[in-house]
Amino acid sequence: MMKRKKIAELLKTTAPIDNILLKGWIRTKRDSKNFSFIEVNDGSCLKNMQIVVDEIISDYVEIKKLTTGSAVAVSGSLVPSQGGGQQWEVRAAKIDIISIAPETFPLQKKRHTDEYLRTIAHLRPRTNKYGAIFRIRSELSWAVHQFFRDRGFRYIHTPVITGSDCEGAGELFRVTTLNPPMPMNSNGKIDFSKDFFGAESNLTVSGQLSAEMFALSLGDVYTFGPTFRAENSNTSRHVAEFWMIEPEMAFCDLAGNMDLGEALIKNLIRFAIDTCADDLNLFARFVDKTLEKTLENIISSDFFRIPYKDAIDILLGSKESFEFNLSYGTDLQSEHERYLTEKYFKKPIIIYDYPKTIKPFYMRLNDDGETVGAMDILVPRIGELIGGSQREERLDVLEKRMVGGGLSKESYWWYLDSRRYGTVPHSGFGLGFERLLMLITGVSNIRDVIPFPRTPGNIDF
Ligand code: 4AD
Ligand code: MG
Repeated sequence: MMKRKKIAELLKTTAPIDNILLKGWIRTKRDSKNFSFIEVNDGSCLKNMQIVVDEIISDYVEIKKLTTGSAVAVSGSLVPSQGGGQQWEVRAAKIDIISIAPETFPLQKKRHTDEYLRTIAHLRPRTNKYGAIFRIRSELSWAVHQFFRDRGFRYIHTPVITGSDCEGAGELFRVTTLNPPMPMNSNGKIDFSKDFFGAESNLTVSGQLSAEMFALSLGDVYTFGPTFRAENSNTSRHVAEFWMIEPEMAFCDLAGNMDLGEALIKNLIRFAIDTCADDLNLFARFVDKTLEKTLENIISSDFFRIPYKDAIDILLGSKESFEFNLSYGTDLQSEHERYLTEKYFKKPIIIYDYPKTIKPFYMRLNDDGETVGAMDILVPRIGELIGGSQREERLDVLEKRMVGGGLSKESYWWYLDSRRYGTVPHSGFGLGFERLLMLITGVSNIRDVIPFPRTPGNIDF
């Protein structure tokens, strides 16, 4: 009986195995006098399996025509490899050709640039580098759930379509079934009461407000899902659709929030090092030679915690020439964040107590009346990886902040209810999953750690 095996599984064996069936795609083929050597990859791991094909097997003439990118089913035995370079190889008894890829297959042996591979995002997971990225992405998703489950957090599925703008930044993708000409109000605005939901709706920018409702019911919760932002910024750290991990904890203050963020980052890096060693090694060798050191440094450091005001002092006192001007009350740009974490502290830092004027309405007002209990975690090479806060749990203060920020108390009646009925101190944050993947792999463009990136002007694939 033939048994279908994956390469990842075969490589773990300690003894030869007969009667195996291996299916995959041809990476390269080399013909020598009476043999062909075919490198097959099935996506289960970085390594290929070398298939040795003797000219005596049937259809050898057909097999010689096989090209890079073609799909095959190999029956044979796993045996110790004669040549160097690999421990095991498969001696083929029979090769079934599933499909032949013509010479136009774009991934021939030479190395391609990331820019070019982005134009063939549908094929790039067939390369070593992108296969590795997306296996690591998958493993880390599991690790996220494991981290929270081990700590008693419940996983909440918050809505993707919503009527609220959590961050208040107006970076919303509208969801509508209305078609032009749009129904208009007497005041010249679009009449959304005629729209599908009877109100203006958009894709979520954060699951936080919903998660808060569940934290105030189930205790510790988290969400992990896609979020959408119509930020028209073409940077290497922004995409219009990204995945965010958002824990929310009842009976938790800002310090507890920082502790969780720091533990999560360290735990996920440790997990990647322990669980994805082969794939990760590719990045340490070919993408970022300092990767191992960077990651070990993060795991072993205590993240430096510093109030916003002190961080600004450091920046204003530095001799670095920044592109963007800075003063008390302005938001940090990526260049400032990277200076602090990469050059000044040389490790992750947590900046907290930001001016209320540059942060959303839901953050808890500090006793000074000027700052809020916000915290951002910045890491080398990326800048902001986590943004979070202690939430304003006092109804009267929250209402004042909403009115000041031009938000309607009526449309957030349900959110305010949570501060009316059994309100408690609570905190949470959002971690950008793609930015974490950039940190862990050393990949410098966010477009290369998400299967099909959504960016301004680009909706291909
Ligand atoms: O700092 P942000 O905007 O925080 C929130 O949305 C809060 N409501 C989260 C919460 O407290 N539950 O976003 C959180 C993180 C950022 O630190 C960043 O890592 C990531 O989300 N992020 C993006 N990642 C990729 N592309 C974008 N356009 C991103 N915008 C934010
Ligand atoms: Mg932020």
